[in-house]
Amino acid sequence: MAEDLHVVQGNKEEQYRSLIPQIKGLLDGEPDLVANLANVAAALKEQFGWFWVGFYLVKGEELVLGPFQGPIACTRIRKNKGVCGTSWAQATTLIVPDVEAFPGHIACSSLSKSEIVVPLIRNNEVKAVLDVDSESLSYFDETDQRYLEEIVALIVI
Ligand code: SME
Repeated sequence: MAEDLHVVQGNKEEQYRSLIPQIKGLLDGEPDLVANLANVAAALKEQFGWFWVGFYLVKGEELVLGPFQGPIACTRIRKNKGVCGTSWAQATTLIVPDVEAFPGHIACSSLSKSEIVVPLIRNNEVKAVLDVDSESLSYFDETDQRYLEEIVALIVI
């Protein structure tokens, strides 16, 4: 499948509602994980224009950088380290309104001001995390959490 993403204007909710069926279409019938993570990251970047959006995959004792959109990023994060490693350890979504106020935050870029990390949990195990960074403080809220959790649930991993 290859066609243009239909990007819409509107509030966050309207943007997510437009995007989710398109992401379902992108994932439908494609079993390759890297291809799917790459297209989900690209679709989110295209719709929202976020500073950085991408995945880290659990590999042994570390998270390893996976498909993403945005500036180059740290490749390996240990469990309990940074926002990503904490989300992994706690198996829960973390919304960080001000990254400088998060103890142990890993700054891949000084331009990143707020962040949300959503774990991909299958059979009670975190397999990966979706990480999104914004250049604005307090960008992410419960709306992002709800829809991003819905989006990561669509990914077969
Ligand atoms: N800030 C993250 C590291 C990943 S980058 O933001 C892409 C963290 O503290 O885990």
